[in-house]
Amino acid sequence: MRWTERAPAKLNLALHVRGRRPDGYHDLETLFAFTRFGDRLEMIPASEWGLELAGPMARDTGPLADNLILRAAQGFAAATGIRPRFAFRLDKRIPVAAGLGGGSANAAAALRLLNRATGTGLDATRLEALGATLGADVAACVRSRMCIGLGRGEVLRPVPDVGRLPVLLVNPRVAVPTGPVFAGWDGSDRGKLSDWRRGRNDLQESAVRLQPVIADVLAWLKTLPGATIVRMSGSGATCFALFEQSVPAAVPPADWWVMATKLAGSAV
Ligand code: C5P
Repeated sequence: MRWTERAPAKLNLALHVRGRRPDGYHDLETLFAFTRFGDRLEMIPASEWGLELAGPMARDTGPLADNLILRAAQGFAAATGIRPRFAFRLDKRIPVAAGLGGGSANAAAALRLLNRATGTGLDATRLEALGATLGADVAACVRSRMCIGLGRGEVLRPVPDVGRLPVLLVNPRVAVPTGPVFAGWDGSDRGKLSDWRRGRNDLQESAVRLQPVIADVLAWLKTLPGATIVRMSGSGATCFALFEQSVPAAVPPADWWVMATKLAGSAV
């Protein structure tokens, strides 16, 4: 037997930081979206938990023992008492520490795979709650459908999907750790998220301070014909441009990572 699951990249179409919390996290209002582009996770029965990495971004991931896939598997086993063990193989395409939720998407895919393969059948609420114990946006990645994230990002609200809009993702090949970007937030609440198109990413300023090249990426995306919304995703450094019709052919001014894809709609 072999099971496979897609692990779509996550985008924050808007990300409003509303305040610091006593637990060290920040209260957010964010619109999560997912793309057709992503990683792929395979799983086969094994005598003990295992993980193998392949794909263009495999060498950028940290030590295997720290990988969120194995932590998700162990968390699932502890919560459900399942006995069988599995070996995972990850095709890693999403850049690491990039604001695209790669590690969270992988953990979420592992939870969905285990839930399906073992016939455990946890409902979406329980699987998302399990995801939330692994990271603030793992619950959204378990769902992998456009939704609003509140609290640390783990309190999810449904929202009408905006459709399969073409999107260009650009990362200047600098890894940006999430914690320091949140720590650099200036503490001023700029208001709630209502219309995401006119919304913001409140972490942009802090991320640009840490990695000024992000400003160059945003400036370049804004020059592309037909770009409707240009913004950073998550804590960066990946930025995106949305288009109504298609992504224009364009060559960036530097050796940046570029991916033309579409929002996943409700097809994930
Ligand atoms: O939950 P996760 O491990 O993905 O978060 C990584 C770091 O990002 C946290 O340790 C915290 O510093 C920061 N964070 C935050 N507020 C959030 C989400 C993440 O401050 N809502």
